[in-house]
Amino acid sequence: MPLHPPDELLTARLRLRPPTMDDAEAIYAHYATDPQVTRFVVWGPHANVGITRDFLRELLTGRDRGERWPWAIERRADGRLLGMIEVRLHGATADVGYVLERPSWGQGYATEAAHALAEWARSEPGLSRLTALCDVRNPASARVLEKAGLRCEGVRRRAMTHGGTDVLVDVLSYAWVRPLDPPGEPQLLELDHVQLAMPRGGEEQARAFWRNLLGLREVPRPAEMAGRPGLWFERGAVRVHVGVEEDFRPARKAHPALRVTGYDALLARLAAAGHASKPAETLAGARRAHVHDPFGNRVELIDAEG
Ligand SMILES: CC(C)(COP(=O)(O)OP(=O)(O)OC[C@H]1O[C@@H](n2cnc3c(N)ncnc32)[C@H](O)[C@@H]1OP(=O)(O)O)[C@@H](O)C(=O)NCCC(=O)NCCS
Repeated sequence: MPLHPPDELLTARLRLRPPTMDDAEAIYAHYATDPQVTRFVVWGPHANVGITRDFLRELLTGRDRGERWPWAIERRADGRLLGMIEVRLHGATADVGYVLERPSWGQGYATEAAHALAEWARSEPGLSRLTALCDVRNPASARVLEKAGLRCEGVRRRAMTHGGTDVLVDVLSYAWVRPLDPPGEPQLLELDHVQLAMPRGGEEQARAFWRNLLGLREVPRPAEMAGRPGLWFERGAVRVHVGVEEDFRPARKAHPALRVTGYDALLARLAAAGHASKPAETLAGARRAHVHDPFGNRVELIDAEG
């Protein structure tokens, strides 16, 4: 049966409602011309309001055909149109996309809208999978998806164009999946995270390495971990947990191996911070090097463009 999302979704501060052709001027004035806004979406800045009207017409036609379901994001306090969120419907799966005007960034609005949409997805038994693709350079959107309960399944290399250009970019693939009932056959699905050890009191050094140098984000640990020292770092599907080990001894052989872009720049950044790398032989044509974290644990870096 075709899915039929609700016309309206209400959150504490937002009303998600069907867009109309009358929204064209507000969309054009609030965000459609802003290259910062379109940097990580498929379309490029609109050169005139006629393009916004065509865009809306296409959206509404898709909605009439049951292929896509857009909502205008309206602030309840003053009725201002802040942006748009939509699901594209493909049978039992759907993918989500959203955009907000720049002055409204950083106030939790996208999280609120995405959360409402994910709630609808969970309540819709006909929907098995809700996905989103997010540019690897767009951590704000990745965070919105994570907070809405989607999980990064991995990276898709050169899988999309953004900003109205024809340049293919790397995107993170996020999904929420309805649990199987009853559960299926046992399968090892994926690597969830890598656990590394550090000595007591090593938190600041771990942050300097994993967050500042390697660019992972420190994420709050679940309440169940409270009282146990340690840190979690993530970016997309790269998840590194660093825990305190009494009688710590560095892992010089066992190691995580990370595929990276910007390989030379990253090795230079690490060297400048005192983490000189040692090249390893190329494997399957890919350059590799070993570095050590501040505690002497070995980390392998592989050139993803190699
Ligand atoms: C992506 C976008 C929708 C986010 O909207 P928003 O309302 O600012 O998002 P929220 O305020 O709900 O949440 C943003 C989260 O990202 C985090 N964040 C923002 N910038 C970040 C950065 N540079 N690095 C890491 N995290 C960042 C914020 O801290 C916040 O997380 P937190 O609540 O855990 O602190 C908005 O920036 C946008 O419209 N961008 C252009 C269009 C776009 O990229 N759409 C998504 C396509 S997949």
